[in-house]
Amino acid sequence: MKTVKIFDTTLRDGEQAPSCSMHLDEKIEVALALERLKVDVMEAGFAVISQGDFEAVKTIANTVKNSSVASLARAVKKDIEYAYEALKGAVSPRIHTFIATSPIHMQYKLKMTEDEVLERIKEMVSYAKSFISDIEFSAEDATRSDREFLRKAVYTAIKAGATVVNIPDTVGYTTPYEMYDLIRYLKENVENIDKADISVHCHNDLGMAVANSLAAVRAGATQVECTINGLGERAGNAALEEIVMGLNTRKNVYGAQTRVDTTQIYRTSKLVYNVLGLTPPLNKAIVGVNAFAHEAGIHQHGVMAKRETYEIMTPESIGLPQNKMVFGKHSGKHAIENRLKELGYELNKEEMEKFFARFKALADKKKSINDLDLEALVGHKEKDMLAKGYKLDRFTVNSGNYITTNAVVRLTDGKKLYEEVAIGEGPIDAAYKAIDKIIKAPEHSLDDYAIHSISEGKDALGEVVVRIRCGDEIITGRGLSTDIIEASLLAYINGMNKII
Ligand code: KIV
Ligand code: ZN
Repeated sequence: MKTVKIFDTTLRDGEQAPSCSMHLDEKIEVALALERLKVDVMEAGFAVISQGDFEAVKTIANTVKNSSVASLARAVKKDIEYAYEALKGAVSPRIHTFIATSPIHMQYKLKMTEDEVLERIKEMVSYAKSFISDIEFSAEDATRSDREFLRKAVYTAIKAGATVVNIPDTVGYTTPYEMYDLIRYLKENVENIDKADISVHCHNDLGMAVANSLAAVRAGATQVECTINGLGERAGNAALEEIVMGLNTRKNVYGAQTRVDTTQIYRTSKLVYNVLGLTPPLNKAIVGVNAFAHEAGIHQHGVMAKRETYEIMTPESIGLPQNKMVFGKHSGKHAIENRLKELGYELNKEEMEKFFARFKALADKKKSINDLDLEALVGHKEKDMLAKGYKLDRFTVNSGNYITTNAVVRLTDGKKLYEEVAIGEGPIDAAYKAIDKIIKAPEHSLDDYAIHSISEGKDALGEVVVRIRCGDEIITGRGLSTDIIEASLLAYINGMNKII
């Protein structure tokens, strides 16, 4: 059985999607989760694109030890130099350089001839190779490229030192049959193809990204590029969890395995959704709430008689918490720590102390605390970054249908207390206006506000997610509390802290 490498690009292609940008702390958290998931390579960003991306690639390169860390770079010297500078502290760095090879991209975007593109591939792959040995070359829009020209491009890249050649379906245009043929064609016609891994990178514009990637594996691809939850430009990229579980569940078809620890899938997916303030569609394959739920009586009966009647994989295999234990204010630290471990969360001593204090505070307000609450608390752990920003000290809101709503909010920056009062259209509007008076941020507006409950019951934890537009960026803030006004304030303060 061959082993297919998993190249995760959540932090680059995923993060490029609208409303999916992440703060540095969040990127590091996701990178560590990807390392635990045991991806072979993670693309940490596009170092030349901004100071923020450069810092993210550099920090992740210096932090992650057990996966290769890659930076994207156009096939130009400056990009490659930035990528190298950001990556040079990594245990296993990779420069991922690309140029388009399709007629439409070469003519209208690059304004380059085929010969010029081939020459650029040769020069830039060699240039990247002078810094780092592991070089990936991508032929952007490969699936709409002329085959014979693509063959030459791939050959040139490998000859210049590429260790991986990536065949992207940049616009999600291809079909599984075409992808299979294309990979076979390259395997059979590129003389030096044995010297490099063949990779694919499929977008999901026609809903084919996973199917196309798996067809490529069947044809001989040895690396698949994908993102957690299928995030990515437009309709997204191939979803890592679907690729990995597809290969795992149908080994007889693909004859391939990965090194991914599948029991980390659920947790990693949840983390990425949480960081972005998103929730999966109910029926999302592998990680949706309904993915392992059996509602119809006939199905329930079948599963009870023999699980495999309606289940082709087990919830345990993706690390989905099964044993729903309930905790309360009398629960001890050890029991909580053990449950967190079973759910896949290893907290160090200091983190556990902080977590337990927050657990106790919650247990005072909420009678029974279940796995979903525990996970929400872990997901909302106070970040060090917030120590630099403002925290909620206290608030009062007076609201009703015959008075003018007003809010008094007091925040602290750790040194001083700041109190402001404001009136508004309702409790949230008034409280947010009071916060705006305290936190002096560049011009911004509230684009979206959403609230949902984490678990059932009147005392359920409420999670608020806000999206704040500031210049060209959309910043996500999240807050969690049994009091929805407090959750709203926490979410807004979290977002405003990120802005400032
Ligand atoms: O979709 C694409 O072609 C890409 C490349 C840069 C690999 O993201
Ligand atoms: Zn892409």
